[in-house]
Order: sequence, then C-alpha cells, then structure tokens
Amino acid sequence: MRSSRRDFLAESLGMAGASLAPGALLGQAGEASAHVASARLLAQDERARQLTAALTLEEKVGQMAQVDQTYIRSLDDLQHYHLGAILSGGSSHPKAGNGFDAWTAHYDRYQSRATKTRPRIPILYGIDAVHGDAHVIGATVFPHNIGMGCTRNAALVEKEQRITAIEIRATGIQWAYAPCLAVPQDIRWGRTYEGFSESPEVVKELGAAAVRGLQGSGLGDPLGVLACAKHFAGDGGTAFGTGLPMSPVSGPAGLARSSLHHPLDQGDTRLDDAEFRRIHLQGYITAIAAGVGSIMPSYSGWNGVKCSASRTLLTEILKEEMGFKGFLISDYSAQKELPGNAKQQIETVINAGMDMVMIPDDYWNYTKLLAELVQERRVPIARIDDAVTRIFRVKLAMGLMEPGQSLSADPNLQKQFGSPEHRAIARQCVRESLVLLKNERSALPLKPGARIHVSGKNADDMGNQCGGWTVTWQGRSGEITTGGTTILQALRKMTGEANVTYSRDGAGAQGATVGIAIIGETPYAEMMGDRTSLPLAAEDLAVVQNLQQADIPVVAVLVSGRPLFVDDLLPQVDALVAAWLPGSEGDGVADVLSGKWKPSGKLSFTWPRAISTSLHLGDPGYETLFPFGSGLSY
Ligand code: BGC
Repeated sequence: MRSSRRDFLAESLGMAGASLAPGALLGQAGEASAHVASARLLAQDERARQLTAALTLEEKVGQMAQVDQTYIRSLDDLQHYHLGAILSGGSSHPKAGNGFDAWTAHYDRYQSRATKTRPRIPILYGIDAVHGDAHVIGATVFPHNIGMGCTRNAALVEKEQRITAIEIRATGIQWAYAPCLAVPQDIRWGRTYEGFSESPEVVKELGAAAVRGLQGSGLGDPLGVLACAKHFAGDGGTAFGTGLPMSPVSGPAGLARSSLHHPLDQGDTRLDDAEFRRIHLQGYITAIAAGVGSIMPSYSGWNGVKCSASRTLLTEILKEEMGFKGFLISDYSAQKELPGNAKQQIETVINAGMDMVMIPDDYWNYTKLLAELVQERRVPIARIDDAVTRIFRVKLAMGLMEPGQSLSADPNLQKQFGSPEHRAIARQCVRESLVLLKNERSALPLKPGARIHVSGKNADDMGNQCGGWTVTWQGRSGEITTGGTTILQALRKMTGEANVTYSRDGAGAQGATVGIAIIGETPYAEMMGDRTSLPLAAEDLAVVQNLQQADIPVVAVLVSGRPLFVDDLLPQVDALVAAWLPGSEGDGVADVLSGKWKPSGKLSFTWPRAISTSLHLGDPGYETLFPFGSGLSY
C-alpha cells in the first residue's frame, strides 16, 4: 500500500525515497529541475493574472470557449464573442479542401481576424494530429501509437513527434490533441490503437517522450506545438457494456452516431483509487513532468462519475495534487452528455475545474450562459479568473502574445512537410514497430530472388494501412493521401516488378516461391471501432487458403489496430507478422520482410486466444496466445 499521495508521485517518477517538499514534485516554479517547462508556465503567472484582470466578463468567457470551425457563422464572431480557440475536429476541413495550401490559408484567415481588434488575443487552433499531421493530404503519416509502443524506443517516439510538430507548424496551427495516454485494458475498445500499451510503464515512458517531441525545447519553441495529453483519465479502463448508449446524438463534424453498439467507448472505469492510479494516472505524472501545457478530460467516467464533471479528478487530483499548471480543454461536446439543461451542464464542468470547453457549436449560447452563471454566483468569478489565467499562461509561454510576433504560417517550413527526410524517420518507426510472432520453414526473411505472390485487402491500400484519424475522422479505404508507398508498392520496389505478382484474393499464386497475405482490419476510429469479438474476416482466411493451393510457404502480415483472433490462422501459415497500422511508409514493412531490418518489435499488448471468455486483461477468463513482450527476430 502506498503511504501517501506524495509517495505515489515520487514512486511514479522513479524518485521513491526522495525527500520532497510538498508540491516540489510537479510544477512549482524553480523547485525541480526536471520540471523546467512547468516552471516556465508559472513564470508567466504574473503577466497572465494582469491580462486576465484587464478583461471584461464577456472577454473572459470568450477565452474559455473553443469552437469547431464548421460552426463559425461569420469570422466577425471571433471578435464579437472574443473566442479563445478554434478547432477542426474529425473531418472538419477548410472549405477549400484539405491540401496543405488550403490549411495554411484557412489558419491564417482565422488568426489574422482574431488579432485585428481589441483585446487582440491570438487564438489557439487545435487539431487531432495523433500519428503525424495526418489530417492534411500529403503529410508524413506515422504508425499509430500501438505500433510505436512495440518499438519501446522513446528516442524514436520523440523524433516522430518533433516531425509531427514541424509539419503542423508548417500549416500555422500550434496545438495537437496528442499524445493519447490511454492504457487500454480491453482490446475490443475501438480506440485501442491510440494507446501505446496496456502497460502503464510503457505509456509513462513513451507518453513523456511524445510530449517532449511535440513541445520541443519548451512551449516557446517556434518549431514545437502545444501538446494535449488525453483522455484524463481511465479512458482505456471502461467496463464492457458501460459504453456509449445508442442514442442518436451527433458526433464530431456532424456525423450521426449510428445505431451500432459501442460497448466500451465513453463507458465507466470501475476501479478503486489505488488501481486507478497504478494503471491510468502514471502517464499523466510523467507528461506533467515533461511540461505538457494542456490536458483533455475523458468522456468516460470513473466509478459512475463522468471525468468532465469530477471535481475530485480535475481539481483535487490533477491540479492540486499532481500540480498541473496548464489548462484543461474538454472533449468534443462532452458537457452535453451530462445530466441537466445546457446551463447546468456548463456549471458542472466549469466548477469541476474545466478551463476551456470544446463546445463545439452554439458558442453564442455557451458564452451567454457562462456569463449568467457568474452573475448569478453559481460559478465563482475566482474560478473564471483561474481558468483564464491558466489559458494565458500557456499562450504567453508559447510566445503568441509577444509584440511583433508573427502568427502566420511560416512559408520556410513548407518544404519540410511530407519531405523525404521526414518519411525516412517514419520508415524507421515502421521497421521497429513490426512484431514477428511466428517464423517456421525459414519463411522469412524473403530469399534474394524470391518470386512473391502478394495478396489481401490491405496489400495495396493506403487508407487501410493508415487507419482512423487519417485525412478524415474515421479514415477510409483507398487512396486517402499522397506520398509514401503501399506495402505492395514497397515490395515491388524492393524485389523488382518482375518478381512480384498480386491478386486481392490470393488466387493464381502458382509459380511463386512464397505467398504473402496482407490482411486484417479496415479503418475506424472512436465509437465505430468497438467490437464484441475480434475474429478474422472470412475474406482474409480465404486469401490464405487460396495461397495454400499453390503449395508454397505462406506469410501472413496483419494490418490492424489491435490483436485479432489468429488461432485458426496460425497452423495455416509459416510466418506471422503484426504490422499494426503502419501509416504512409510501406517501405518499412518491406524492409522487415526482406531482412534489411531484423525484426525488433515486442508486443505492447497481450495477445489473447480466441477461446477467451473475457477479453478484459487480468480477468480469469482471459487466455493468452502470445504474452506481452513477445517478438522474434531472424
Ligand atoms: C475525441 C478526441 C478528439 C476530439 C476532437 C473527440 O471526439 O474523443 O480524442 O481530440 O474529438 O476532435
């Protein structure tokens, strides 16, 4: 048992036994050298307070509002409502399209309007850059976090995120809703791939590396962006069956939530305090120590209380105990999922400790209701001042409010966007993320001069290998982005066109010396990816059976956001490689299959057997096929 909360923080940071003054662990200015970035935030405190004090109530509540650009009725509203932040959620692209130039022009239009008239406070513009700046066509798309977790390489994660930050900055935007610090405990959850690992140890190391990569040398780094650790907390711990109800409310960017069952997403995490902290808070401790400037509370709940409504979690644990000095941004319309009318919902989240609300639409109502709540003394003005001061601390630390500071997209960065140098790092990420789970009859590496028959729905599909949160919210199959290579294209490049044949269904492999089935999942993101079971599609098993007809060794490459049931597949293939969602650089997959890079990835999740009666980690009915940490090499 832990003797005190301070011991819990000290242990988490690997400083157990250290003698620490109260609050010295995280974020009290000048006290701990490990927390330079947090100290920088506090260094802005005096200026932030003065700025806050100079604002009217309307200006203050405007700073606490974030609106999805889709819902902005007129650019004049930026000034009229004094909006503090804009976002593009999910598939909310500029009207002119989602190429680089459209994004840059779009951002510049918003920022220049916001700073035109009093009080001339720059907006923050947020985006879901969760595996590269992947919503922009032509960006370098990295493996999703589940693959990066298998690299166990914090330095590589940091590099990945440096590149992501530069590509975001190239469009002018300066805020990424990343990293996701979920510690998924049930792989039926459709957001499993957004987490680095089921293990808090891996999440805490790689999550902090991601924050360092995104924010660079600190919030003032002109090549860095503001990071946003999410979703605080326990998003990956929800109990099966407690997920999002099937109500027909609307999701991000107006996509109607379907009547699909979402058994886990936005559900309830039922754990006692000690277990909750041991599993789900670790990543936040190291992210705060790394100076993360913003945190997004989760849609999900902890023991029946929604995180965004929990004063215990947001104020007592996160701000007071853990010493978080940045600001909290709510998840997309999260307040609207709480009980009560709109006014009561706003009252609940702000009093719980939320600093900015991702409304995302009726900002005219939100600002009016929040101001009324203050006038009616239902929300103390001190709470408003605290929220605005926190937002200003971050804006000041980012240098956004320095006189003469250029706020438009830096044209010099354009040449780095999707550049060969960036793609080379992404390729290295792919190489290191692949996990070799079976290799018999020396099926891999491919022999020099081998004639390869490639097959399967994920062999030649950029959208499928990138997964969700790529160009669109849910992602989609097909030619979704430009640059990079599909896995088939990469194999052709590597072995020469003449040595590669292809059929989607695996038929016609006769004459080849090896068959490769590239199978698995097709894109999904939050809500839409929840499943009750994880079998392979019949189409995928048929591909393998067709390849077997040619009487050649068969290699299966699984492109998926999580482990799938492979019990039936395993005896039918000579080799099995988990490639996760590798992103735009299919070359990295070819490097591993050819032996140019020896497989080095280790499972960041336990791989269950199909007969498991529960897929919740640690439950008695969970049966393991490949243990956590598995991974062969040549
Ligand atoms: C997701 C967040 C995301 C936000 C903005 C929400 O639906 O849960 O992860 O950052 O939308 O797009």
